[in-house]
Amino acid sequence: MSDFLPQQLLRWRRELHQHPELSDQEFATTERIRHWLEQMNIQPLPLALKTGVVIEIGHGEPLIALRADIDALPIDEHTDQPWRSQQPGVMHACGHDLHSSVMLGVAQQLKRIESQLPGRVRILFQPAEEIFTGAKQLLAAGALQDVQAIFGLHNAPDLPVGTLRTRGGAYYANVDRFQINISGKGAHAARPHEGIDSIVIASHIVTALQTLPSRVFSSLESVVLSVTRFTAGNSWNVLPQTVELEGTVRTHSAEIRSRIPDKITALINGIAAGFGAQAELVWQEGPLSLVNTPEWADFALELAAEQGYRTQVGTPQMGGEDFAFYLQHLPGAFVSIGSASEFGLHHGGFDPDEAMLEPAVHYFTVLAQRALSTLRQQQALAS
Ligand code: NI
Repeated sequence: MSDFLPQQLLRWRRELHQHPELSDQEFATTERIRHWLEQMNIQPLPLALKTGVVIEIGHGEPLIALRADIDALPIDEHTDQPWRSQQPGVMHACGHDLHSSVMLGVAQQLKRIESQLPGRVRILFQPAEEIFTGAKQLLAAGALQDVQAIFGLHNAPDLPVGTLRTRGGAYYANVDRFQINISGKGAHAARPHEGIDSIVIASHIVTALQTLPSRVFSSLESVVLSVTRFTAGNSWNVLPQTVELEGTVRTHSAEIRSRIPDKITALINGIAAGFGAQAELVWQEGPLSLVNTPEWADFALELAAEQGYRTQVGTPQMGGEDFAFYLQHLPGAFVSIGSASEFGLHHGGFDPDEAMLEPAVHYFTVLAQRALSTLRQQQALAS
């Protein structure tokens, strides 16, 4: 591998970092990635995508996919790095700029050995991961057609550089979002008995919701319920008619997840009715739990150890990741790679160690070749 790569990786990463774009608006990012790929003599596949790029390297069968995400977050950057975001209020605070740079590096390395590849590698530069719609867009556009296994990464600020973590089975959580609309009767604050106080009712509801994880579901099941928004009123002396609550529920089991909306509905209807008010649940399903194929997770860990990473078998995380949608359709594994940032993901001070880039490029370059060989052997045995 040439010495040119480390500098190249920093150039890509810092340029992406300076020009972050929100989900589904990654137009300039898409242009940059296309341009850099064209410099490597790689043309994007002709898919109907608003943003994002998909490429393919190699020939014949089998076919695997590698995925990077490309979108940023509506967060103000607080670092004082020379390459900090030039876009006020938008920041690559989840490190998708790192992931994209890693996969650009992998594309460059694989292109150099294209004629020796035992199959094809499709690389996805996926938009809109943060709003959980990008993977679905790529699936709908046919980007995963004929792919036999898929791999992806997320940087992990809590891990030191040189550490790789994953696990077979459920790794990231089911992510669901809810809104609860509570409607009472407005009144003068001095005469609350003439109204139905939606703020008091909503407060009961917020407290009661916490009994779902602690009293309705087994403590051995993972259920997290957080109310994150409580919006009511606009005056000091008026009791408002309505309150809006918003929040998220995280679980790992599909069975537990499926029971939650009914439990919330029963609870909020009961409480609201007791006070003579109404409550309504708006439930929005997000991505399913990310479930790694055990064989591919083991493969990813063994290869990482061989490549000099310290490896860890992870415990299930409560965060979400739309890579889960790919793993609903095909086997594969998603890994976490240490990026050693003092401030975590989605924080304005997030400042990952760029030393994570180069080893990750080597890792996925070898992983792609090894996964193709493995699939080829399996198919030879099966035929
Ligand atoms: Ni992310």
